[in-house]
Amino acid sequence: MAEPSPDRAATQDELDLLHYQPRIERPVKMKSPELERNERLRHVIFSGQFSVDMLEDLARTADRIRILSKNRSGQDFLIRLLHHKRAMLYFTQPSTRTFLSFMAACQILGITCNEVRDPTTSSETKGETRFDSIRMFSSYFDLIIMRSKLARLAESCAYLMNDLEATGNRSVPIINAGSGADEHPTQALLDIYTLQRTFQFADSRSSTISTRFEELRKDYPELNQGLTNKVYGFCGDIGRGRTVRSLASLLANYEGVTLIFIAPDDPTLALRDDLRTRLLDRRVNLVEVDSFDATYNGKPVIETLDALYMTRIQKEHNAPGDEQKFAAIDHSRYKLSTKLVERMKAYAPILHPFPRDQHFGEIPPEIDNDPRAMYFRQARNGMWIRSALLASIFGVDHQIDRFFHDEYSEWHHYNEGAGVGGEGSEPSTASQSGQF
Ligand code: CP
Repeated sequence: MAEPSPDRAATQDELDLLHYQPRIERPVKMKSPELERNERLRHVIFSGQFSVDMLEDLARTADRIRILSKNRSGQDFLIRLLHHKRAMLYFTQPSTRTFLSFMAACQILGITCNEVRDPTTSSETKGETRFDSIRMFSSYFDLIIMRSKLARLAESCAYLMNDLEATGNRSVPIINAGSGADEHPTQALLDIYTLQRTFQFADSRSSTISTRFEELRKDYPELNQGLTNKVYGFCGDIGRGRTVRSLASLLANYEGVTLIFIAPDDPTLALRDDLRTRLLDRRVNLVEVDSFDATYNGKPVIETLDALYMTRIQKEHNAPGDEQKFAAIDHSRYKLSTKLVERMKAYAPILHPFPRDQHFGEIPPEIDNDPRAMYFRQARNGMWIRSALLASIFGVDHQIDRFFHDEYSEWHHYNEGAGVGGEGSEPSTASQSGQF
C-alpha cells in the first residue's frame, strides 16, 4: 500500500487506506467472519475465505448452471433469478477474462451490469476519493466487482461497506477481481474448478469413472481421483503472481499436496517469504527449484508433476533496474516446449491464468492442441464458477439445486432405457476435457 510521502501532506485517498491498515494486518482467520453474513460469503477478498466444502458446493452449482445453460428452459430459469439486481464492474486495471466472464456470469443470472474502467472518465479526475466513488457505486448498485493496482483497496472497501452497514447506511458486497500483486481469489476459484473437473476423471456421458482413468492407472498406479495427494508445479514469475498466491493458498486446503515452485533464483521473481511461511504453517510439502530439470524424488521435476501452472513474467511491475537485473537470467528455463510436454505425465493438465506473453513465449501456440492444454477451457470455466459465486452471494444457489433436480428427473425419465446415465445418476458434471 502507498505510504504518504514525508515531502508532502498525505492525500485523503492515502489517509483512507491507512485508516484500515490495522484491520488489514490481522490474520485471515480473524478477518474472515467479518466478510460473511448468516454463514454465507458477503464479500470475497482473499482465497483463504474458502474451505474445501465451500469449493465443492461452488463446483456443484457451477456444473448445474453449465448444464442448465444448454437449453432454453434452463436459460429462462437462470436469467429470472437475479434480474432485480445491478452490478458495478469497477476495473481500473486492464482485464479481458475477469471483466468479461464476470459480465457474462451476471448476464446468465439476469443481473444488469455497468462499468467504470477508465478513471479519467469518472469524477476521480475532479479530486473525488476512491472511497467516495465506491460509496456512490453502492448507492446505485447491489454489488461491486473491482480490480485495482492497489493491493488492499478491495479489502478496505469491504470494511467501508461494513462500517456503513453498522451505522444503518446502505452497504453492498465487494468482490476482489484482482488487487495489485496480492490476491486474485476468483481466478483461484476457476483454477480449482478446472482441476476438480480434470481430476474427477469422469466419463463425459455419465457420472461414472471414465475407462480412461482405469487405463491411466495401469501406468500410474498411485493416481487417485480428486485434488489430494498430488504434485502441483508453478512456473515463472512466482514472486509477483497474484494468481499463484491465491491458488497456492487454496491448494493448501487439500491433504497430501506438494507444491513445486520453478522460478529464477531472484528475490523479485522467486517465492516470497510471507507465502512460504503461510504454506509451511499449513504443513504443505514445499519445493523450490530453478528449472524443470532440477530433481525431485529422484526424477526431473517435469516428469513428477500432476498439474503444471505456467505464468508470464509480469513486466508491468518492474521497478527501476529490474530489466537490467533480469537480463542476466536464463529465461529459456521458464518456457514450455513440446519436448518438455512430451515428458509430462499423460494426464497432467497445463494451466495458465492468461494472458500469455507472445514476446516472452512461456507457452508457445504449438502446445495448444495437446489434450493436456487446459488454459482456454480454464478461462471458460471462469464464467461458470463466477456465476456460481454470484448465486451463492445472493442466496439463490438452493433454487438452482431444486430446479436442476426437477429438470433432471424429467431428463432421467426421458432417457430411461437409452443407456445414458444410471439409476440415481445425474447428467454428466465433468469430463476429462473439462468443457461443454
Ligand atoms: N487471468 C486474468 O485475470 O485475466 P485478465 O487480466 O484478462 O482478467
